[in-house]
Amino acid sequence: MTGRLRHLPPTSAGAFADAILPCRFAGVVYEARGKRLIDGLDLEIVAGPRTVILGPNGAGKSLTLRLAHGLIHPTAGRIVWQNRKLDGAGRGPRRQAMVFQKPVLLRRSVAANLDYALAVHRVRGTARSRRRDEALARTGLTAYARQSARTLSGGEQQRLAMARAWALRPQVLFLDEPTASLDPAATHAIEEIVQAMHAEGCKIVMTTHDLGQARRLADEVVFLNRGRVVERGPADRFFERPESQPARDFLAGKLVW
Ligand SMILES: Nc1ncnc2c1ncn2[C@@H]1O[C@H](COP(=O)(O)OP(=O)(O)O)[C@@H](O)[C@H]1O
Ligand SMILES: [Mg+2]
Repeated sequence: MTGRLRHLPPTSAGAFADAILPCRFAGVVYEARGKRLIDGLDLEIVAGPRTVILGPNGAGKSLTLRLAHGLIHPTAGRIVWQNRKLDGAGRGPRRQAMVFQKPVLLRRSVAANLDYALAVHRVRGTARSRRRDEALARTGLTAYARQSARTLSGGEQQRLAMARAWALRPQVLFLDEPTASLDPAATHAIEEIVQAMHAEGCKIVMTTHDLGQARRLADEVVFLNRGRVVERGPADRFFERPESQPARDFLAGKLVW
């Protein structure tokens, strides 16, 4: 590593040659069953700041993350990543991961869940076991390695989902309400892991309906309403001086989640 790179801040994934960020949504439309659910969304996701997507229930937060992660595809408009298009032939691993409200785990041991994810991403041999053990340690799951994933508590299962994401060393991690069904202690544990991944240079893009969590984690807020970006800016400013009426209503609890 050169001296110049060594002195870059930890959240500088975008500075590297294989960087997939920034990611740009240009006029993205998503329609299902004749309904326009995402309605001409323009959004730039840049490396660095932790981005929290807020908005009332049904605003299109989950769809936006699923579009970004490539799980669904725009009906119109484009999503362009650095050096590749999601709707075109992407080359190589995309270096992005996603964690959902409810983790989907294999009916195998905790360690085997990580091994499987690494195998799918063609990480082999000692590199695989090293990454698996590191991810277990960083998520506090080392003692659970041989336990069946299905017997973990909800909080432990979500930690395993985070471990699986971390083991893949993504440049971007999308999290869709990752703590929505967890108690405060389990929520805190997940937030710590999110912070640790961010400190290592992983871009965080998450949704939450927990405004306390948004205040704790967000550097910037993207506020969605009815499938559009209504407002975007530094988190402090958003919470103290929201610029749009829908955002003011939302923060005042007048817009239904
Ligand atoms: N496959 C689908 N077919 C029809 N409607 C959908 C589909 N997926 C999502 N929706 C609707 O799109 C809107 C936005 O959904 P979503 O992104 O999940 O909202 P949220 O901001 O709460 O995460 C909601 O009204 C939802 O019911
Ligand atoms: Mg949602």
